Amino acid sequence: MGRFYITTPIFYVNDVPHLGHAYCAVNADAIARWHRGLGDETLFLTGTDEHGAKVAESAEKHSMSPADWTDRTSERFQEAWRTLNISNDDFIRTTEARHYSTVQTFLQRIYDNGYIVKDTYKGLYCISCEDYYTTEALVGGRCPVHLCDVVEMEEDNYFFRLSAFEDRLLEWYESAPDAIAPFAKRNEALSFIKGGLKDVSITRTSLTWGVPVPWDSSHVFYVWYDALINYLTAIGYGTDDEKVATWWPHVHHLIGKEIIRFHCVWWPAMCMAAGIEPPSNIFVHGWLLVGGSKLSKSMAADEDSPVKLTDITPASLTEDFGVDAVRYHLLRETPLGSDGDFSIGALASRYNSDLANNLGNLVARVATVVGSKCGGVGPCPDPESPLAEAAAAAVSGAADAWEKFAPHEALEATWRLIGATNAELEATSPWKAEPGSVDNVLGSALEVLRIVALLISAAMPATADEIWQRIGLSGSPASELLPGAAAWGGYPGGLTVIKGDPLFPRRK
Ligand code: ME8
Ligand code: MG
Repeated sequence: MGRFYITTPIFYVNDVPHLGHAYCAVNADAIARWHRGLGDETLFLTGTDEHGAKVAESAEKHSMSPADWTDRTSERFQEAWRTLNISNDDFIRTTEARHYSTVQTFLQRIYDNGYIVKDTYKGLYCISCEDYYTTEALVGGRCPVHLCDVVEMEEDNYFFRLSAFEDRLLEWYESAPDAIAPFAKRNEALSFIKGGLKDVSITRTSLTWGVPVPWDSSHVFYVWYDALINYLTAIGYGTDDEKVATWWPHVHHLIGKEIIRFHCVWWPAMCMAAGIEPPSNIFVHGWLLVGGSKLSKSMAADEDSPVKLTDITPASLTEDFGVDAVRYHLLRETPLGSDGDFSIGALASRYNSDLANNLGNLVARVATVVGSKCGGVGPCPDPESPLAEAAAAAVSGAADAWEKFAPHEALEATWRLIGATNAELEATSPWKAEPGSVDNVLGSALEVLRIVALLISAAMPATADEIWQRIGLSGSPASELLPGAAAWGGYPGGLTVIKGDPLFPRRK
């Protein structure tokens, strides 16, 4: 048992949440839930990034003040996360007073340490990225991420002396080779550092929608500079040193691959400049693509864009398939770290094969046969069952996989156990056998369901609770201690087994 602090990026409130955000939130949620199951003291943080030109622009477009607009849109994220059963312990909004205070304390410290200086900056700026690009980095003269026009900007700004941290960053990469995962993403960031680092502009005078610079009130901080610091705001940086000491050494930042540079280069350097350790772990996930194109709020908002993806809101899927089926698909379909193609067809077919035919069918047939052959009272598991070994393999496979941020592998391991149990039932056909001769096989199948409920509780919490109750157990699998609770033989027998409605009715 230890401590586990996991964060998602804080999402821009220029528009409503889409499936890409949900993908990140669900993965972080499942990993957080798994760690709670291990008994780890866990802190799961998500939130909204509410400053910057992009948000100010979208407020204006909707004829609202930035404050009203961000209130409204941040609430849409919170609502989406409630729907998806996201168990975040805190939700940070960068417009909160606690965040202003942490940002100002943190950056004042960097300023006092001599790593922030005043200079003039001129360059090509993408408002959607809230970032400058060099001419070489553009694609056909346009932003390489959003394929939109960039604008020429010139500003008298404060600069963070990122260039001063080249050697220290390289040393850190060397000394902590696992800090950034997957390894290919770590190498991408590393080669960026090796290519040489320029100082970065961190304040704006062209805009008032931001955190005021404490030593110069004519400037606000550039949105990325305030945003990254949210990870420290939530643990009380500047006001509660003990809380920072408790959580900071255990932080895991889950981020999308388009924000590697901010998190794997700037952020560790900022931490060093302020005199704290760089983040202990950054895990980079890939993009969910639809027909080969990234879901992006900025792109979908573009009338001329061929891709209209804002239609895929998390709610449009959960209404149709159910919350746990959507969570399952997001966790199971694409290995965390790779890009993946999302399609409704793939979701529907996984729903039928994995959920209706495998898991749902197992739950239904066990309950039915316990009803017809055992009077609805679940027998004890067989200590010698061949399924005991399959269960142990599933438990250790799942535990290893969750530990390395591989939910798809954890679910694969769990579904191998479900498959083996369905096969065992086919082979022994307890529904054809004499009552009395089937106790061992049915008790063992019930034990598998208990273990499966424990193993899927992080991914599909409501389904796990439902299975737990149907096999007669009280409480919730989420409050059992893993992996110990999943050892073979925990099902006590003698419990009333309920045959409810199909968990996942087959879809045409
Ligand atoms: O970048 N596939 O916010 P953002 C998978 N505010 N994940 C996706 C995705 C997709 N198609 N689209 C978005 C920002 N995401 C900043 C972050 S952090 C200090 C500041 C997810 O609203 C993914 O996790 O653009 C990505 O990194 C994040 O949403 C970016 O959301
Ligand atoms: Mg983005």
